[in-house]
Amino acid sequence: MTEKKTVGVGLIGAGRIGTSHASIVANRLTKADLVAIADPVPGAADKLATALGCPSVYTDAAALIADPAVEAVIIATPARFHTNMVELAANAGKAVFCEKPMALTLAEADRAIAAAKSNGVLLQVGFNRRWDQAFSEGFDAIKAGKVGTPQLLRSVTRDPGPFKGDPAKIPQWTIFFETLIHDFDTLLWLNSGAKPVEVFATADALVRPDAKAQGHLDTSVVTIRFDNGAIAVAEANFSALYGYDIRGEVFGSAGMVTMGDVRRSSMTLFGAAGTSNDTWRMDTDEFIDAYTAQLAAFVQSVRSGYAGAPTGSDARSALAVALACIESVKTNQPVRISDKDFQ
Ligand SMILES: NC(=O)c1ccc[n+]([C@@H]2O[C@H](COP(=O)([O-])OP(=O)(O)OC[C@H]3O[C@@H](n4cnc5c(N)ncnc54)[C@H](O)[C@@H]3O)[C@@H](O)[C@H]2O)c1
Repeated sequence: MTEKKTVGVGLIGAGRIGTSHASIVANRLTKADLVAIADPVPGAADKLATALGCPSVYTDAAALIADPAVEAVIIATPARFHTNMVELAANAGKAVFCEKPMALTLAEADRAIAAAKSNGVLLQVGFNRRWDQAFSEGFDAIKAGKVGTPQLLRSVTRDPGPFKGDPAKIPQWTIFFETLIHDFDTLLWLNSGAKPVEVFATADALVRPDAKAQGHLDTSVVTIRFDNGAIAVAEANFSALYGYDIRGEVFGSAGMVTMGDVRRSSMTLFGAAGTSNDTWRMDTDEFIDAYTAQLAAFVQSVRSGYAGAPTGSDARSALAVALACIESVKTNQPVRISDKDFQ
């Protein structure tokens, strides 16, 4: 197949992560052009477009999708809009990069996957940890058999504190749908080929106990049992005062890999009080190279006609674990994941 020269990319949702993705497309990718931005908030798309030299702005995502210069879209709206946006873009024949979570129900996930399939368009999902160098090297080591048979897996997400969010504005179950969904994808990917069969999740409002009565959850520990015998633990908290702390670990019959480091670099300051390191404070800082690699891969898949990954099906798998966790918190019981839920 002949490769396209460059790909015209449209951004839907000029918020926090959309701004980072758009600036990566405009400033870091050589095979893509940022051709349009859509956001319903007056002035939001214009401001970003002006900063990045992007020629077209819209307040309506459907208008951006209909723009002939847009060959591929990046969906970075709030989660509840993702499935409809995937469908709209896929039905218009546009390649889709969708931020996580791609969907909030399995039925929605199936709709998104079917839309991409029936229209023959690429659907890649924003599980950026797969593109981080340490996680990617860990995956390769596991795949090469260097840790033997995985027995214990661990994935940690501690968002940088102090937590400044308004619990009243955070959708219910965000800790599973938007935070731990990264950990679920990471664990499923690192334990590739194995199916999760049971989860037990416990969650609480330890950062904002005053908001617990409204359903706010900011801390969770999840145990996942897999059909290859491995047991995984995922944990999250919304307020790590020392920085943005993302780590993974796989322990197996022949060894162990660890991935991720809250320290910004190996630079250590030695002083009268001891030693110290600066730490990561933002996802868009720590993962800038991973975000760039995932979008470069997306663009390369569009140019070359590759299938691309992580796929809609990967997003569905992580969602199945998140939904089982929600059920487990509601019932305070372990929850089985059936073959129907995990395909
Ligand atoms: N992969 C990652 O590391 C990562 C990091 C942050 C956020 N995210 C995900 O990205 C998504 C967005 O998060 P955010 O923090 O950037 O949110 P945000 O609230 O900062 O931005 C969302 C933007 O979408 C716009 N928007 C709302 N409805 C729209 C519509 N119909 N059409 C076009 N634009 C619309 C809003 O006006 C806003 O500008 C979430 O699903 C989140 O989970 C992923």
